[in-house]
Amino acid sequence: MTGIIGSDQLRAYSTTIRDALSRHTAKHLSPDTRKSDKPMRRFSVKETAEALRVNYSSLRHYAKIIEGFPSGKLEAGNRRTFSGEEVHAIQDLLFQARKIPLSMYPRKEPGDVTAKLAVYNLKGGVAKTSLSANLAEFLGLRGFRCLIIDLDPQASLSDLFDVRADAQLDDGDEAVHSIYDILKYDDPVPITDVIQATYFPNIDIVPGSMNMTEFEYETSASYMNGTQQSQPWHRKISNALRLVEEYYDIILFDTPPHMSFAVIAAVASATGLLVPVSAGMLDVVSLEKFLDLGAGTLEVVESVEKDKRYDFIRFVLTRYNPNDQAQLQLSSFLRAQLGDAMLQADFLQSTAIGDGTNTMQPLLEVGPAGVTRKTYDRIFDSLQKIAHEVEAEVMKSWGREQKSQRDN
Ligand SMILES: Nc1ncnc2c1ncn2[C@@H]1O[C@H](COP(=O)(O)OP(=O)(O)OP(=O)(O)O)[C@@H](O)[C@H]1O
Ligand SMILES: [Mg+2]
Repeated sequence: MTGIIGSDQLRAYSTTIRDALSRHTAKHLSPDTRKSDKPMRRFSVKETAEALRVNYSSLRHYAKIIEGFPSGKLEAGNRRTFSGEEVHAIQDLLFQARKIPLSMYPRKEPGDVTAKLAVYNLKGGVAKTSLSANLAEFLGLRGFRCLIIDLDPQASLSDLFDVRADAQLDDGDEAVHSIYDILKYDDPVPITDVIQATYFPNIDIVPGSMNMTEFEYETSASYMNGTQQSQPWHRKISNALRLVEEYYDIILFDTPPHMSFAVIAAVASATGLLVPVSAGMLDVVSLEKFLDLGAGTLEVVESVEKDKRYDFIRFVLTRYNPNDQAQLQLSSFLRAQLGDAMLQADFLQSTAIGDGTNTMQPLLEVGPAGVTRKTYDRIFDSLQKIAHEVEAEVMKSWGREQKSQRDN
């Protein structure tokens, strides 16, 4: 028989690409071989002030007068830098010393509900994953304890944080569990055994994996053979999260570009929706269809969860290039139609994001040294403003009103 054996050929290509990628990563992160072994970068005093939303000179003053203020590390050029953990220790000190009001303190108080945010749009490539990763890092550095949940079988978010649930294991390695292990019908694994800390302070992850597709088959099968389940599938995510919610201020779901039972369960569990939209004509047309389909899905959820309510549903323009006339027009159109539901800040198109650097690093990991200063500042400002607007929504849900988006 002649012809190509598809499975052999695809597996061989997969191996070739995987090996080449790991050589690329190893070279880039040399002398460390894995991203997670690389020490997290440190933050300047200016960056620390920005993350804590404290005035720069006030922060320098507090460093002198507050006992126990971390001394950080003195770098070349007499520049002081802090680790992410030190940034958070400073935040706690300032809060205790009443230099940071509760309205600006990114931690739940007793009685506050963890904000669960689904980044949701069925359109592919609208920057759901890039937004989830960057938002998580801005919110994490800001001081929110974040759990990110990767619902996409492609598991790009997990890749970005260098966590591989599907990876082939060497002898003696412990299996890395994924979201599928939490949701599966036979012998589910408790979420506490699945969550992993990432190298980024304040960010833990529930990894995604290819076998998430099995959850879809299992759920359909349970319908077809009428198996009675102890819990309905749409509550599986909320129920699993109950075990750990108290440890997190924000839980963020990155969703795949296709409808699935898992996505509906995440949306059913969320307290807020963030819909990324790109400023292309086809994107806007598909947005209309997505919203209609989304409304239908929510109706199904609401028919069984009568009290289901969201704290917020907001849209954000992504991969946006305001110098492109067509995009500019579409963004005005969207703003005119959606009004305040659109975030004021846009996620700008930038060479510093994702593929631009060929290193798959979120911006805060690239750092100002990785690109030109102007490029970095522009995209930093865009992402920081988005994070501030999301923060304001979360604070509002905790009954804390912030004076303005920029009250430094
Ligand atoms: N602001 C940006 N500037 C430049 N490139 C971007 C930006 N945001 C995303 N990208 C790039 O666009 C592509 C799609 O982004 P991403 O994977 O985040 O989208 P997605 O919505 O998660 O896609 P999918 O639907 O496949 O999950 C990636 O190559 C990413 O690096
Ligand atoms: Mg994605």
